[in-house]
Amino acid sequence: MKTLRVAVVGVTGAVGQEMLRILEERNFPVGELKPLASERSRGKKVIFQGEEIPVGVLQRESFKGIDIVLFSAGASVSREFAPCAASSGCVVIDNSSAFRQEEDIPLVVPEVNPHRVRDYKNRFIIANPNCTTIITLVPLKPLHDYGKIKRVVAASYQATSGAGAQAMRELEKQVRFYVEGKELVSSVFPYQIAFNLIPQIDVFLDNGYTKEEMKMVWETRKIMEAPEIRVTATCVRVPVFRAHSVAVNIETERKITQEKARELLSQAPGVQVFDNPERRQYPMPLYVAGKDECFVGRIREDISCENGLNLWIVGDQLRKGAALNAIQIAELLLKENLL
Ligand SMILES: NC(=O)c1ccc[n+]([C@@H]2O[C@H](COP(=O)([O-])OP(=O)(O)OC[C@H]3O[C@@H](n4cnc5c(N)ncnc54)[C@H](OP(=O)(O)O)[C@@H]3O)[C@@H](O)[C@H]2O)c1
Repeated sequence: MKTLRVAVVGVTGAVGQEMLRILEERNFPVGELKPLASERSRGKKVIFQGEEIPVGVLQRESFKGIDIVLFSAGASVSREFAPCAASSGCVVIDNSSAFRQEEDIPLVVPEVNPHRVRDYKNRFIIANPNCTTIITLVPLKPLHDYGKIKRVVAASYQATSGAGAQAMRELEKQVRFYVEGKELVSSVFPYQIAFNLIPQIDVFLDNGYTKEEMKMVWETRKIMEAPEIRVTATCVRVPVFRAHSVAVNIETERKITQEKARELLSQAPGVQVFDNPERRQYPMPLYVAGKDECFVGRIREDISCENGLNLWIVGDQLRKGAALNAIQIAELLLKENLL
């Protein structure tokens, strides 16, 4: 079988570590792994397929002889290094927001717009969408195909790991210090996150929305190839370690009954319906963490309008919202003989 030389940039981070696990789990044909991070990780090692591999320090020359690079080190690193990687002949799959809005760069969720991977040839870069957007769109796609979504109203409950490995440790430390009666310190988040909610993710823009909220607006339209869909969102950081939850209300052109929605979602790839209110069964981040599917529950018709539907969606954002989606894109490239 053909094997590939794969580099992972940001390998010591929350997404990078998940990428190694998923490459192993899915038997992605890695012939050689090149783990890369910053100067801070000099001397560190990662374990891949039972072998210890030293972490290299990212440089412009890091990509020689590499077939595919998975970037998960933040937008400024991607902006600086992804074009170098692409011009040295690698295919780049980028987890950051650096290129998502560029017209000639495909923004791909394999369950939603797999045909777009072919556009990687424009610049040899494929963008992986925002985590909350991916988790929301996997279940919305079959509903859109059936009933044509006109409007989406979303409120997200986003886990601390969405802000990286250090953010997850901050929550853990604050909970421990709280119990021990010590003073709590916040360095990653602007406020205490333990026992709190922070209604700000990313920076505020001129229109009063945060950038995270506008990513949901812009990216939904691009991925669904439906610039007419109206989207509004409120994104909130919650004291959960892992897995994002989204309360979603959609309005469609054609009515989708509760039963029809359940039927469409049960057949959709990447979706798991978990919705038995009489048995108090609904998706929760604690139980969805570590899973690949986007879980949907609390499916019900909106009593306030004609063609509205409410859904509660939960997905592991380190997996489907980041690492898994990126590796599924790489698998798609392989399947289509594009690598
Ligand atoms: N966390 C999520 O749920 C999630 C979801 C979707 C997308 N993303 C995106 O994925 C990216 C990584 O997020 P994360 O949560 O994994 O962050 P993280 O846990 O903070 O990890 C960041 C990684 O980037 C590396 N890095 C930082 N600056 C670097 C530089 N100048 N050169 C080389 N490597 C550098 C770090 O290496 P050192 O250890 O050496 O500092 C570390 O490996 C971000 O763009 C984020 O927006 C994250």
